[in-house]
Amino acid sequence: MSTAGGVDLGRRRFLTATATVVGGVGAAFVAVPFLKSWSPSERAQAAGAPVEADISKLEAGQIMTVEWRGKPVWLVRRTKAMLDALPTLDGQLRDPKSTVVEQQPAYAKNEFRSIKPELLVLVGICTHLGCSPTFRPDIAPADLGPGWKGGFFCPCHGSRFDLAGRVFQGVPAPLNLEVPPYKFLSDTRLIVGVGTEGA
Ligand code: FES
Repeated sequence: MSTAGGVDLGRRRFLTATATVVGGVGAAFVAVPFLKSWSPSERAQAAGAPVEADISKLEAGQIMTVEWRGKPVWLVRRTKAMLDALPTLDGQLRDPKSTVVEQQPAYAKNEFRSIKPELLVLVGICTHLGCSPTFRPDIAPADLGPGWKGGFFCPCHGSRFDLAGRVFQGVPAPLNLEVPPYKFLSDTRLIVGVGTEGA
């Protein structure tokens, strides 16, 4: 019998002895093995602790995902062509200047919505009803049309976002994708969940 079995047996004896005295004690003990099955770092992450990301292998044009507070957070290393395309889209967007303050920290309220122009950090959750959009960096694909210059497409109801997470006009999503608090620890490491202002 495993150690866990031994613990169970001991607990059962304990509960048998105390059940007639304190009726509610059993529920408290049921939760203990569940919590113990998580490592301290897993418990901290589930509670919303900051998450570090190593971006040293993230090449230009690529995306990687980390999980923060149970949500996907995308890290995209944008190419110069991707950055150059952003201002050309302003007239097609709902909030090209990122005026809705809740959607990004103050240090990401700029034309690239990021601390470093090339490195985009976004919560990968559609602002319509919470699906996770698809990364579509391809230019003018048949399904998205000749005007598509790369971005994110939500397959649930067709919302479109550019490569700064800014939402297009005429789609169901009302807001730009959220930029989470983050800061760089070095050129190749950043931390999501803690901002440069300590947010
Ligand atoms: S959830 Fe993304 S368009 Fe509806």
